[in-house]
Amino acid sequence: MGSVSSGVKPHVVCVPAPLQGHMNPMLQLAKLLHHKGFHVTFVNTEYNHKRLLRSRGPNSLDGLPGFHFGTIPDGLPPSDADVSQDIPSLAEYLPKTCLVPLCNLISKLNDTSSSNVPSVTCIVADGCMSFTLDAADKFGIPCLLFWTPSACAFLSIMHFRHFAERGLIPLKDASYLTNGYLETIIDWIPGMKNIRLKDIPSFVRVTDENDIMLNFLIHETERVSRASAVILNTFEPFEEEVLDALSNMLPCLYTIGPLVSFVDQIKDNNLESIGSNLWKEEPGCVEWLNSKEPNSVVYVNYGSITIMTPQQLIEFAWGLANSEKPFLWIIRPDLVGGDSAIIPFEFVTETKDRGMLASWCPQEQILNHPSIGGFLTHSGWNSTLESVCCGVPMISWPFFADQQTNCRYCCVEWGIAMEIDNNVQRDEVEKLVRELIDGEKGKEIKKNVMEWKTKAKDSTKPGGSSYRNLDKLIAEVLLARN
Ligand code: UDX
Repeated sequence: MGSVSSGVKPHVVCVPAPLQGHMNPMLQLAKLLHHKGFHVTFVNTEYNHKRLLRSRGPNSLDGLPGFHFGTIPDGLPPSDADVSQDIPSLAEYLPKTCLVPLCNLISKLNDTSSSNVPSVTCIVADGCMSFTLDAADKFGIPCLLFWTPSACAFLSIMHFRHFAERGLIPLKDASYLTNGYLETIIDWIPGMKNIRLKDIPSFVRVTDENDIMLNFLIHETERVSRASAVILNTFEPFEEEVLDALSNMLPCLYTIGPLVSFVDQIKDNNLESIGSNLWKEEPGCVEWLNSKEPNSVVYVNYGSITIMTPQQLIEFAWGLANSEKPFLWIIRPDLVGGDSAIIPFEFVTETKDRGMLASWCPQEQILNHPSIGGFLTHSGWNSTLESVCCGVPMISWPFFADQQTNCRYCCVEWGIAMEIDNNVQRDEVEKLVRELIDGEKGKEIKKNVMEWKTKAKDSTKPGGSSYRNLDKLIAEVLLARN
């Protein structure tokens, strides 16, 4: 990989949105830039910094030579909880709270009397942290915005204002969620086809024109053209038409994913030791998988944000039990709304020989394990990319945000998943799990995902599109003013 030449190192300040699914890809990008010769300061919120110290150990944020951590407050009341923070509250408080502390941090890093790091030369921030554009202006440095969801979801979000202007949103009342209205065909977004309103990121399912998330995303996407570059974590063959449409809207677009595949090529134990898991990984999952047949186990995980009802949990449980397939099921402590997860005792006794339950796991390692035959997922974008890079076919149960769009593309455009109805029933879980592991449709989507795996890996190898785009991003934007 091409890298920075001699002299004073360029210094990138990375500012992820303070959510697991955003921190992971930003950390992957930060590692790549460090590997390319950049000095990195990775800025977490104080809340997540404390969580990382608890989940990964007291020395886990000491950093490495040339890779350090900084913190800023998030504006929410202080808390020592180990749960995903309320997203609308973050959307409300981050833009109001973070700019001044971030500027103070950068000033401190630039002050040679108190700091022995190179001056900050650029900011790479999450697309949802656009207040960083104002910080970059203040210091006269470039700010690159990294939109971490899929390109298809990002393109949809870029059109939210048009949905409002066309009178499609807000919904007239809650009955529009169930009266067939969400089946409305959306055929006017260039680059997207076969799309219904229900496939658009779920932030459009609102009845209030002042909805915080809807307005936050409209605001953030309207600022995106101020960025020196926009970065996406996908690969060109995967989302070609969508990326063409986005390039027409945003000339400085760099597609450099899957970052998870890029980072796997860096053989550096020190970098590998830096992690971003906010929950403590439960030991024993890999050892348990070692005792299972190849391609036999269904891995079940709904990411860091999904909250389901107790009844949905029970339907999944009995569906898995009735499928008679081995399963590894990750149940986050805050997965079930209102209370901690209550798993039926009969389910535990009936499946004890072929099921393992855990609270959090090293997901990429799990997906890479030869015993894994399929993934029952919420279709978060990181989980989707990780599954593609490991060649694992999926069952998709999208919960919210970009997951509906990802599900549609996985099932219809890429042929790598089967959708499960939102109103989950045990019989359907049983049927789809059996199909995934043993059935003809399962074989077909396995074949497709293996083909996408090859294309994903090729994109990040020397000569691949993402590999070239990363080098261009560094030369054309990150080092342009050095
Ligand atoms: C959220 C959104 O839901 C997602 O759609 C968006 O694209 C990013 O923000 P999340 O719901 O957590 O993320 O899903 P996902 O994008 O899949 O990210 C979860 C990350 O946590 C993955 O990188 C996954 O490997 C990791 N993880 C999850 C673990 O390491 N262990 C676990 O047990 C669960």
